[in-house]
Amino acid sequence: MKKLILDLDTGIDDTLAMSLAMASPEAELIGIIGTYGNVYMDQGLRNDLAITDLFGKDVKVYRGLEHALKKDSFEVMEISSFIHGKNGIGECQIPDSERKPEEIAGVDFLIEAAHTYKEDLIYVPTGPLTNLAAALQKDPSISSLIGRVVFMGGALTVPGNVSDWSEANINQDPDAADYVVKHINTTMIGLDVTLQTLLTTKETAKWRELGTERGKFLADVTDYYIKAYEVTAPGLGGCGLHDPLAVGVAIDPDLVECLPINLMVETEPPLRGRTIGDLSRLSDPVKKTQVAVRVKKEQFLDMLVSRLSSLAA
Ligand code: BDR
Ligand code: CA
Repeated sequence: MKKLILDLDTGIDDTLAMSLAMASPEAELIGIIGTYGNVYMDQGLRNDLAITDLFGKDVKVYRGLEHALKKDSFEVMEISSFIHGKNGIGECQIPDSERKPEEIAGVDFLIEAAHTYKEDLIYVPTGPLTNLAAALQKDPSISSLIGRVVFMGGALTVPGNVSDWSEANINQDPDAADYVVKHINTTMIGLDVTLQTLLTTKETAKWRELGTERGKFLADVTDYYIKAYEVTAPGLGGCGLHDPLAVGVAIDPDLVECLPINLMVETEPPLRGRTIGDLSRLSDPVKKTQVAVRVKKEQFLDMLVSRLSSLAA
C-alpha cells in the first residue's frame, strides 16, 4: 500500500487535508511533519496531535524547521490569523492530546521514510517547502527515491494571494521552493486550480447534521474559514480548498490535468516568490514539474464531502 506523509502548517485547510488523508483507504498516513506558516510550529504540532486524537487516529507527528532556510525567525502574518484564527483552527476548542511529537526530527524522518518506502512514498507539503528542501540538501539521494511529491503552493496562470505574483506558501520561503522544484519531480497544486474548488456552508451543513462532535468540529472550523473568505475574497462564492486538493490529487492523480514545465521560483526582488517557467531550461526535453491547470471540481468536491462525512459519522 502507498504510504503518505503530510507536511502541514495546521491551519484550517490543512485540517481538511489531514482529515481527507485519514479518511482515504488508498494510502496509509504514516506521519505528519510540522512546519510554520498559518501558525507557529508549536501550535501546528499541538493541532496535529489534537485533531488526529479527535478522529481516533494514532498518527505520529514530527517537528520540522521553524523558519525559512535563509532566516533565523518567523512571525505569523496578521492575515493568517484572520483567516485561520489565532489557534489555526478557527478558535475551536478541542482537547490537547496526551501524546507528544516524536523525538526524531521531521527532516530525518522524511529521509528514513524515503529509503524505506521508496516509490511507495507520497509526500504532500501544504505549507512552505522548507522541510523538503532541507531534506534534499541533507540527502540528495532521496530525490530519486520518493515516489511522488504533490505540493500545494504557487500560482502560474493567476495572480498570487499575498501579492500580485506570490502565493502564501511559496512566499514564506522562495529559496526553499526554488531549490525543491529544481531538484525533485513534483506536482504543483497552485491557486490555478485550488481557487476553482470552492466549499460553501451548504456542504459544511452536511457535517453538522451528522450530530457528532467530529462533524461539528469540521463544520465549525470550515465555517470560520468561509466567513473569512467572505471578507478577503468577496464574490468568490466559497472558500478555496487549497490543501485538501493536494491530498486529493495525491490519492487520485486523474483529478487534475497538468502542464509539464521546468519551473523556477524568483528569489530576487521585485518579483521574489513568483512561480514561473525557467528560461534556462525551456528547451530541456525533460520537465521536472507538473503544474495542475485543470481540475474535475465536482468529482473532488464529492470526494471530500463524502469521505469527511464518513470519517465524522
Ligand atoms: C495556502 O496558504 C495557507 O494559508 C493555506 O493553508 C494554504 O496552504 C494557500 O495559499
Ligand atoms: Ca497550508
